Amino acid sequence: MRQTVAAGNWKMNKTPSETRALIAELAPLVKDAKNKVIVCPTAVCLPAAVEAAKGTNILVGAQNLYFEDKGAFTGEISADMLLDLGVSYVIIGHSERRQYFAETDETVNKKVLKALEKGLNPIICVGESLEQREQGITADLVRMQVKIALQGVSAEQAKTVIIAYEPIWAIGTGKTATTEQAEEVCKTIRDCICELYCADVAEAVIIQYGGSVNAGNSAELFSQANIDGGLVGGASLKAADFAVIANS
Ligand code: 13P
Repeated sequence: MRQTVAAGNWKMNKTPSETRALIAELAPLVKDAKNKVIVCPTAVCLPAAVEAAKGTNILVGAQNLYFEDKGAFTGEISADMLLDLGVSYVIIGHSERRQYFAETDETVNKKVLKALEKGLNPIICVGESLEQREQGITADLVRMQVKIALQGVSAEQAKTVIIAYEPIWAIGTGKTATTEQAEEVCKTIRDCICELYCADVAEAVIIQYGGSVNAGNSAELFSQANIDGGLVGGASLKAADFAVIANS
């Protein structure tokens, strides 16, 4: 049985003091959560998050990392820096980073390889735009994104990655994919991993759905055979809502 994982992508929200307050509010609400609980605040809030999450079952993830070890890369953050803080997960290739910060499938792959080399667990985001869905290329596109992201990743490493299927048209729009749409693409991803590796790896990989997940729809989404939890934006900023999702 795969563990279900509820991860909150806080995006560019919350200051360090607000981070402490939100985690303090969330911790008692999720202490017996069925799902693994991860919060991913912005980089400057990571020390506050790690501190606030100490002694709780809340794990902390970053929203990005750079694929070089160190050096003249102004503004970037390395895997070692994240590990030194006590961060254990990192979101890679979110559609907002692909759209606004020129991330490509190739940079996503480099970041995935670096995260795995260093022992950080990547949460790899894939998903299509509305135009691509209407063109009928969702499965092809998502398969390509997964295949490139996992280039050079061994079977043992692949078992530790989380893949988040996030249709771009469902992000921040309140327009959730239907349960059937979400399950169909998550199954496509699992089948693709089975082709790339084997059934064992495909069975082990955690595949999340993301895109307007909320307290009202998480239980149904997470009950699907191939959906192992969610990557949650807006609803993860409210402790009560995220607690419901984490307990779904
Ligand atoms: P929303 O839950 O706000 O739609 O955001 C989803 C997302 O992008 C999580 O990474």
